[in-house]
Amino acid sequence: MSMTLTRADTLRAFIDIVGEAHALVLQDDIKPYLTENRGLYHGSSPLVLKPASTAEVSAILKLASATGTPIVPVSGGTGLVGGQVPREGSDDVLLSLERMNRIREVDALADVIIVDGGCVLASVQKAAEEHDRLFPLSLGSEGSCRIGGNLSTNAGGTAVLAYGNMRQLCLGLEVVLPTGEIWDGLRRLKKDNSGYDLRDLFIGAEGTLGIITAVSIKLMPFPDQVATALLGLNSLDDAITLYRRARRDCCDLMSAFEFMPPLAFVLAREAIPDLAMPIAGDYPAYVLMEISGSGLVDIADLMERFLGGVMEDGLVVDGVIAASQAQARNLWLFREGMNEGQAKRGQHMRTDISVPLSRLADFVRDAEQAVSEALPDCTSVSYGHVGDGNVHLNVLPPAGSSPAEIAAKIYEAKTVVNRVLDEYHGSISAEHGIGRLKRADFEERLDPSHRALLSALKQAIDPSMVMNPGCQLNFPGIS
Ligand code: LAC
Ligand code: ZN
Repeated sequence: MSMTLTRADTLRAFIDIVGEAHALVLQDDIKPYLTENRGLYHGSSPLVLKPASTAEVSAILKLASATGTPIVPVSGGTGLVGGQVPREGSDDVLLSLERMNRIREVDALADVIIVDGGCVLASVQKAAEEHDRLFPLSLGSEGSCRIGGNLSTNAGGTAVLAYGNMRQLCLGLEVVLPTGEIWDGLRRLKKDNSGYDLRDLFIGAEGTLGIITAVSIKLMPFPDQVATALLGLNSLDDAITLYRRARRDCCDLMSAFEFMPPLAFVLAREAIPDLAMPIAGDYPAYVLMEISGSGLVDIADLMERFLGGVMEDGLVVDGVIAASQAQARNLWLFREGMNEGQAKRGQHMRTDISVPLSRLADFVRDAEQAVSEALPDCTSVSYGHVGDGNVHLNVLPPAGSSPAEIAAKIYEAKTVVNRVLDEYHGSISAEHGIGRLKRADFEERLDPSHRALLSALKQAIDPSMVMNPGCQLNFPGIS
């Protein structure tokens, strides 16, 4: 069904669905929704809608499809690829799930929690903990990102190693399709082989196929013992060997394994100046490792015996095990603070690359070498979730560069790193998604049959092409 309304009538009809109190129409109120954290994108929009129910979301999308009004879904707004920002100069209508933030049900016996798409990640973690369960997704932005956005970007973070990313944690979804139809796929089954798995289509779709209004997700036993250690090593190669050893020796209880270069400490202290240096001496490589468990295992003993062995073998040169939760938190502050430190240095090239673990050390060496040849005045910093084969190989332009120089260096750094990545058959997005930032790089790497399938799916599910049109695939005449 297509409908012809004046623009004012269309906006009025959208506002009537949620009620005036839940629609933002003044540019001052809308402004915070028009940019993203790094200030990379600035969009425009005449209206922000804050529905309270799946039925209201359905009415909004039905009207959007009928009138051809583009809709940009907004979640916590913490995404790193611009997927949450409307297009520049557009009349895209923003749809925020911030009022849909109910914990619908905790089924502790089945280890399942069912929540609205607008729940803040930390509130889902808290609801699980109240039932002595863990919801393991863990991200720097967990205090403000929302679960619908976590699903739409298939969020990862530091606990993927042990528990998987959003895709692996999700059991079922309720989705409002672009036509307004509601797909009730909110199952809570661990095993379900009945036909195509539609759920996985909507995870990582960045709101291009509809709005995730609710999700059922897996919970784990709450680990009441956690051992956290910061280790000094000689190289990334040693860190990968250490990872393999930990996989073998720690009975699958390793819950984090984060790699950091020496620059991590410098950057973290630029953001948090009074952060105490946790480890004496300088090392070429550091690993932040965590083992977690509950019940009858002795996690502290396991960590001590494991480190004793790898230090005796010379794989780890020095290390510190946190003696309290506060000390563990301090170790994590180095990992988290280094992101903030990079942000303080200004715009830089960020990546979230993955290659097979067996090739990771070679890839980082080759890519950093290529960057230093092409951009000798820039600084590479590679860190992250090495156990997942996932690194953030970021490139920081020198202090004092003009905005135009920074933009040129970021572009050059991205081109150089992606060229090396292609030689390694890696992914340009292991974590953060495509959004608007990596759209061209994504399209360039799609083979025609892959593109045709994606395009056919988009057109089947969103025939009016109204959902988040600035993101992912580019359709002629639409962006
Ligand atoms: C990290 C986020 C930025 O790992 O992906 O720090
Ligand atoms: Zn990451």
